[in-house]
Amino acid sequence: MLSRAVLFVCLGNICRSPLAEGIFKDLVENAGLSDTFTIDSAGTGPWHVGNPPDARSIEIAARHGIDISGQRARKVADADFETFDVIVAMDAQNLSTLTELSPAAPADVRLLLNAPPRDVPDPFFGGPEGFDEVYHLIRSGCGQLLDAYT
Ligand code: 4NP
Repeated sequence: MLSRAVLFVCLGNICRSPLAEGIFKDLVENAGLSDTFTIDSAGTGPWHVGNPPDARSIEIAARHGIDISGQRARKVADADFETFDVIVAMDAQNLSTLTELSPAAPADVRLLLNAPPRDVPDPFFGGPEGFDEVYHLIRSGCGQLLDAYT
């Protein structure tokens, strides 16, 4: 089977997209499809490059049996538009940045949530409860994304 390459993108690559990477990898693994997917995440902003995910994202993922602590933040690169078939933005702001960055024949760039609220809200400046909401929104979006492949 051909490999499917999926990149999840948020602003800092420390809160939402690392969760999406971890959750989607978990779903793909549970579906026995790990060999057919390449899954990664990146940020449109540079501030946290090289850093592990936010402790609150590590914590909510761990509560759901998913270890994302080994991830390290990186910035979206031009090559990503060649490497990845699908680039999944966490919100409209990042979708817009990706659209500006994308070359003439871009990867399929889209939002994770195709129904309201559409944006996975940025939880960085809020409290831990925001990460609970973000986890469930991303879990739902990733489930629908995988369904579209199977
Ligand atoms: P993320 O959250 O985009 O979900 O990783 C953020 C992390 C850091 C910042 C903004 C959003 N920041 O401004 O540093």
